[in-house]
Amino acid sequence: MQAPKGTFDVLPEDAEARLQLLIAARQRLGASGYGYLETPVFEDTDLFARGVGESTDIVQKEMFTFQDQGGRSLTLRPEGTASVCRAYIEHGMHKRPQPVRLWYWGPFFRHEAPQAGRFRQFTQMGAEVLGSDDPVIDAEVIALLSDLLEEAGARELRLRVSSLGTASTRREYTDELKDFLRGRAAELAPEVQARIESNPLRAFDSSDRGTRAVMKEAPTLLSRLAAEDKEHFDEVCGLLDDAGIAYEVDPALVRGLDYYTRTVFEFTSDALGAQSGVGGGGRYDVLVEQLGGPPTPAIGWAAGIERIVLAAGGGQAEPPSVDVFVAVPKEARRREAFRLLRSLDSAVMGEPGRSLKGQMKQADRVGARWTVIVEEEGFELKDMQSGEQRAVSTPAEVLESLR
Ligand code: HAM
Repeated sequence: MQAPKGTFDVLPEDAEARLQLLIAARQRLGASGYGYLETPVFEDTDLFARGVGESTDIVQKEMFTFQDQGGRSLTLRPEGTASVCRAYIEHGMHKRPQPVRLWYWGPFFRHEAPQAGRFRQFTQMGAEVLGSDDPVIDAEVIALLSDLLEEAGARELRLRVSSLGTASTRREYTDELKDFLRGRAAELAPEVQARIESNPLRAFDSSDRGTRAVMKEAPTLLSRLAAEDKEHFDEVCGLLDDAGIAYEVDPALVRGLDYYTRTVFEFTSDALGAQSGVGGGGRYDVLVEQLGGPPTPAIGWAAGIERIVLAAGGGQAEPPSVDVFVAVPKEARRREAFRLLRSLDSAVMGEPGRSLKGQMKQADRVGARWTVIVEEEGFELKDMQSGEQRAVSTPAEVLESLR
């Protein structure tokens, strides 16, 4: 039997870099006022259809959707933002002091063609701030992701930012773009042509050469922003400049989710192959309202743990080490050995009755600093670095010597 296509096991030797990231996220985000939130791994399908957007690839072809025994349609979450908004509304978080800062970590599911850095079950950490449209919040969340990626050792990072304006600017611009694309349809890739009416923005994302040439001449949304959106975006850029965070303004930055308004951003790593996006996000000022909540501007990001670890070059992180190995060559001394094990903070016990030689090898393998051999009577204490060994008569003396 094998794990399903596009999924993977995390073995102990690969776990440490991920756990370090989790600890760093908890530290950095917790210390910045973000509360940790867990939401279910599956939700009503409707949440993602309405939240992420009917015309997106995610909703159209990448969701793991199933019916429960009552005939309700449920979906394994493909992303976290819609769930965070659902939870914000459901628990009346709009009545708490605003903005509300939240972070999360967990498994997400997309039915994509697996390749390096692209999985069907992957892990995201994410942060969301709900209840403020101040540009300083945009800069705050971008800076936090930048800090975390840097701390994780992700290499060759690039940050791209843009603004999508408000829904109405986007609608007007989308009409203009559709006109432009219709006029150049013959030069576009068939899948781009097919989506002129449903999702013309995705044409910027195409890797087709003909399409790319056309898109170089396409009008950009950034040049059509309303005055207050432009001012908002300029302020975000100014704050990033002040914070010394390097970025490029990329008018063609397209994100694969429909809920974005105003600021969007993405970190990529040139150390990765085709799947170079390590983390990204943006503002979603109307999503909470769309899902039935009060008008609530918000912004956030999510980053892929597997891609961060890849971008950091695998990570050399060491797991916590074991201090003491308790060797028990005499089976009859099992209870004495177990009592000793329980009184130690960091210890592993050998299998009672197994040869001393075998147990000493195991002590080496776990990297123990000390080995206590539980003898017929008393104990032998061995310093695994110097090889020195001496007799000790009581458990209390063992503890004393190890202190
Ligand atoms: P996203 O760009 O779809 O955004 O995903 C965020 C990150 O998840 C990506 O940059 C990538 O590192 C990782 N990721 C996505 N799909 C896969 C996959 N199939 N295999 C491995 N890693 C993957 C969101 O999900 C938004 N919810 C972000 C957000 C939060 N926007 C506002 N708030």
